[in-house]
Amino acid sequence: MRVKLYREHKYVSFALSELERLIAKTDFTDTAAIAEIQSEWLRIKEMLEGHAYHEEHNFHTLLEKKGSTIHHEAHDDHEHQEETLKKLQCLLDAVQTSPDPIETGYQFYLAFRRFVGDNLLHLHEEETKLLPELQRLCTDEELRAIEYPTYDLMTVEEMQEMVQVLFPHMNFSDKCAFLTDIKLAEPQKFLQLWEKANYFLTAEEVSKFQHSQTVSS
Ligand SMILES: [Fe+2]
Ligand SMILES: [Fe+2]
Repeated sequence: MRVKLYREHKYVSFALSELERLIAKTDFTDTAAIAEIQSEWLRIKEMLEGHAYHEEHNFHTLLEKKGSTIHHEAHDDHEHQEETLKKLQCLLDAVQTSPDPIETGYQFYLAFRRFVGDNLLHLHEEETKLLPELQRLCTDEELRAIEYPTYDLMTVEEMQEMVQVLFPHMNFSDKCAFLTDIKLAEPQKFLQLWEKANYFLTAEEVSKFQHSQTVSS
């Protein structure tokens, strides 16, 4: 099986959908409830900005180098996303000063739900058009190497935090791919991470992963 990118989209999709459900239930006349939305919104907004930055600077740069233009639509989506995030921020801020916070909150909900729909199409474009092109133009080693500088910079604690956030939304094959990448990129850090495996894998997954490593080595 070829090396896959974009596995973290499973988490992105979950996180946006969770926030949409939270916004749907929010009482926009309650200051504490709005503060909760503001803080969750900020967390998701920063995650999305970091995600797009990573794709632009690593995936799109690699496609550019290979002479491909397939990423142009996804690039435009990222620019559009930046604008939409600003508009959503303004709408959410407006709830607090609005004479009719329930209606303004509803307008924010509608705009955010629309954004979630657009984002799902964007994730689909990346996985059904950009990923096959990346796989066609690059070797597995080149694809794996994209994440190596990230793992080089990350501490073991940050790696553990990352897998604990991502893994509840992934199947065993995705988890294996992440752990194998970390093992290949940073063998020493992987050993330290593996000592904490019970925090992010079930006992059955721990032995399955160990077995897969003895079989493949
Ligand atoms: Fe993207
Ligand atoms: Fe993406």
